[in-house]
Amino acid sequence: MGLKNIADSDLENKKVLVRFDFNVPIKNKVIKDSSRIDLALPTIKLLLEKNVSKLVMMSHLGRPQGQNHPELSLEPVAHYIAEKLGIEVYLSESATDSGIKTLLNLGHIKIIMLENLRFHPEETKGDNEFAKILSEYGDIYINDAFGVCHRKHSSVYELPSLFTRQNTFAGPLIQKELSSLTKLIEKPAKPFVCVVGGAKVKDKINTLEKLLIKADSILIGGAMAYPFLKAKGIEVGNSLCSDEDVSIAKSLLDRDKGSKIHLPSDHIIAADPNSKPKIQDSQGIPEDKSGFDIGPKTQKKYQAFLSNAKTIFWNGPMGLFETENFSHGTFFIAEAISKTNAFSVVGGGDSVSAINKSGFSDNISHVSTGGGASLEFIEKGSLPAIQILKYTH
Ligand code: 3PG
Repeated sequence: MGLKNIADSDLENKKVLVRFDFNVPIKNKVIKDSSRIDLALPTIKLLLEKNVSKLVMMSHLGRPQGQNHPELSLEPVAHYIAEKLGIEVYLSESATDSGIKTLLNLGHIKIIMLENLRFHPEETKGDNEFAKILSEYGDIYINDAFGVCHRKHSSVYELPSLFTRQNTFAGPLIQKELSSLTKLIEKPAKPFVCVVGGAKVKDKINTLEKLLIKADSILIGGAMAYPFLKAKGIEVGNSLCSDEDVSIAKSLLDRDKGSKIHLPSDHIIAADPNSKPKIQDSQGIPEDKSGFDIGPKTQKKYQAFLSNAKTIFWNGPMGLFETENFSHGTFFIAEAISKTNAFSVVGGGDSVSAINKSGFSDNISHVSTGGGASLEFIEKGSLPAIQILKYTH
């Protein structure tokens, strides 16, 4: 059964309840990276053009563990959207605030945003009663929160079943994510090259196993590289490296038999992130130093793989790219990917902000809004909250 699309549906005068993923980095009420909200703006505009009577937006922000944490309020997001669209956005006191029903009956109010869903412990528990309260805010349910579709949370997993199939939709962002990620896992054009970085091997092990089968080359960088190097008996100094990650890396290397996984041949090292960086022209890293970026030889080696690729998937930065001294490897890879004619997908929060900062995002075929969600989709071929949308009756 296919997913229903809002583009060709009549939503005039309907109360529309939409689950977005506005989980963006915010510090002291300032949004540090608005990518996820910016990508959702076309959906909001489309719904307003379709003359819905009310648009009720829901999202989580951070992981407040069921408690009300003022620093995780969606207030900055509501302000940002109001400013961008030049329209008032009413933020409710909580997702279950009795005042929401009053707002829904006021003719002049168009957009309501519910306060952070995760201020309620019921959301992450997948509580059906909580979903029932939310379901009363709309005639139509739309899920456009791809980033959270791997979670069995109330607003994405319980809520859709409380609407009829006719009134349940997958939003445009989800539709785009699915078509791009499906293209990546079903018959990718060869050579299929993956660039994988970031910190924890453990979080990515299942995806890496899947990629070992599907991809032709896996280029490892960033903090991900050190457990692999250590598993090969190479000295990594003080670089980030848990014993658990080393043993997972070892089992992946054993399975790979040296054919697909490629590791850095040199590094940018320093005593700590605030010290002067130095090129380490070898795979090994001295005892008192840590690796914080891939070196120039590795950049060139990886560029050669990328320039031949027909399909590319990138997840995880090549180093501590937020710090100028250790950003060159990540930005080099961003540029190298953008210069290919390959079908390219970038997924994961850090890689998305790296590609945006690098200025090369326009040439990427698909920038995914999902971190864990895109990895789980690659691993399993679907996600729980997407399956629910398909089988709602
Ligand atoms: C994300 O940032 O990947 C999504 O918003 C999901 O957030 P979560 O990992 O806290 O569930």
